[in-house]
Amino acid sequence: MAEFLGGWKRDLRCGEAREEMAGRQVTLMGWVQRARNMGGVIFVWLRDISGMVQVVFNADKLDEKTFALGGSLRSEYVLAVKGEVALRDASAVNAGMATGRVEVLVKEAKLLNASETPPIYIEDDAKDNEAVRLRYRYLDLRKPSMQQMMINRSRVINAIREHMIAEGFAEFETPILTKSTPEGARDFLVPSRIHPGECYALPQSPQIYKQLLMLAGMDKYFQVARCFRDEDSRADRQPEFTQLDLEMSFVEPRDIQTVVEGAFANVFRKIKGIELQLPLPRMTWKDAMEKYGSDKPDTRYDMQIETINQVVKGCGFSVFDSAVEEGQTVCAITAKNAAHLSRKEMDALGEYAKTYHVKGLAWLALHEDGTVRSSFAKFFSEDKLNELLRHMKVEKGDALFIIADKKLIALTAMGQLRAKLARELGLIDKNKYNLLWITEFPLLEWSEEEQRYQAAHHPFTMPMEEDFELMQQHPELTRAQSYDLVLNGIEMGSGSIRIHASDLQEKMFSLLGFTHEEAWKRFGFLLEAFKYGTPPHGGFAFGIDRLMMMLFGAESLRDVIPFPKAQNAACLMMDTPSRVTDDALKMLHVHFDEDVKG
Ligand code: AMO
Ligand code: AMP
Repeated sequence: MAEFLGGWKRDLRCGEAREEMAGRQVTLMGWVQRARNMGGVIFVWLRDISGMVQVVFNADKLDEKTFALGGSLRSEYVLAVKGEVALRDASAVNAGMATGRVEVLVKEAKLLNASETPPIYIEDDAKDNEAVRLRYRYLDLRKPSMQQMMINRSRVINAIREHMIAEGFAEFETPILTKSTPEGARDFLVPSRIHPGECYALPQSPQIYKQLLMLAGMDKYFQVARCFRDEDSRADRQPEFTQLDLEMSFVEPRDIQTVVEGAFANVFRKIKGIELQLPLPRMTWKDAMEKYGSDKPDTRYDMQIETINQVVKGCGFSVFDSAVEEGQTVCAITAKNAAHLSRKEMDALGEYAKTYHVKGLAWLALHEDGTVRSSFAKFFSEDKLNELLRHMKVEKGDALFIIADKKLIALTAMGQLRAKLARELGLIDKNKYNLLWITEFPLLEWSEEEQRYQAAHHPFTMPMEEDFELMQQHPELTRAQSYDLVLNGIEMGSGSIRIHASDLQEKMFSLLGFTHEEAWKRFGFLLEAFKYGTPPHGGFAFGIDRLMMMLFGAESLRDVIPFPKAQNAACLMMDTPSRVTDDALKMLHVHFDEDVKG
């Protein structure tokens, strides 16, 4: 019973009908939000991506067939009407609707398509279960808020592109069927039909290609690039996601940061009407760890961490004294107006800190009447305690928290505690967007599991020139020419200056535990390429999905991606991944274990 357009041409969108159009003849097309049959009159809310308008079928003014069509309408039927825009009576004005002062009096109508009763409510505040929403994503996307989100996504990408093009960058595509890119996640593999026993890998990022584009003399590259990483999905991770990826030749970190800042500024200006203060603040990784216990500090609230080894030295509390003697770190934060936390709440914070591998959390509450409640104060002399409170600027009504442990462990746990306290004490200003650069990350990280160094960013990252000498004796102390962009405590993106000399690149591979042969086997094409006049170069990539999440306060990446994967990495709508026929597998020279075939 679906009808064709038959020459009808839409000339107004539903959400655009306004008072000044009264008397105008219009043709509207859209979906029926709901139809109310009042006997002689049928009121229909017609919806398209621009909004909704009331259309009226009046028995007195219509032929029987058209009025009957009005009577047959159900939710999500697709309808076309020709009619006249009319002012509503004052008593019928709907102030909550952008089109609420008018309605369209139907003269002719066509049912373009019927619909079964949808399995979810197509309304913004509907509370359907997420699995059902994902199963029927195309219906979920019909909700005005979802449609708006996807339109906003397009606008954000446009604002980024606009800036990159204005800065003289060119967009190049790079292959999806490629070779493993080391970004620290597992690869998705695609078995080859033509080359039995061999696989392509989907790119974890365009990293290697963009470096080769610099070798090719392309100078300034960018791409809105799809990346694939086989890692467990979380609210802020998807197996398939989109980066704004860029690379430039003959540059230093600041040049790249300036371009990225400009792209963010354009997005904030165009999308949020906010002028970012540029250049953005910068902090070294070491400072970030020492002051915030995190390489992605949330600077919307203060509560900085202090290392208090000098203050507690010889305090008489064995936990702190032995930590100081062993060269560990004793670090503290003062939480304003947190003295009211109960013993039970303090203990719960201690348990929370322990999940970050510290042995305990010492706490103190200084009440308004000057009395002290504490897990450790009894071990301190009065003078020493006063010195500590003065040093930490603890005032009446405040609480103090202290952790003693190995440096990075203590600071990291304190950083997590700081963030938890900020959430629970309501210290976070949700209207703030605090962007900052974290620079000079360590080049390498020691992996206990694999008993070898791993690249902290990726193996193509250039060490800091002043640390070249350190690389041999103290690889762990070597800093990298790398930088992350952080927004409200979330990593938005990462980048670095790359190694452009093949001998240094080989040295890096050897630090990472590759033999010469292994390095050449895996990255021979790159090491070879580096021999042909590689320009100094560097770049950056940021997650567009994550940026969207931050800009629009979404709780999950799933809310900002048109067709996301569910938590278990499956697409519930298409039911992927899915089994394929034995013939298809045979063609790919692949066979699965009998027990997983089911
Ligand atoms: P990196 O691996 O840090 O760097 O990735 C850059 C940014 O991409 C986003 N991102 C993700 N978003 C959603 N789901 C995921 N699974 C996911 N993984 C990463 C994050 C992250 O900050 N080639 C380098 C960049 C470079 O050096 O130029 C790279 O990919 O926002
Ligand atoms: P105890 O003497 O073991 O009862 O500990 C006294 C207080 O010190 C308790 O609040 C413990 O949580 C705390 N504590 C224990 N180990 C540490 C540590 N490594 N850092 C900070 N506080 C600790």
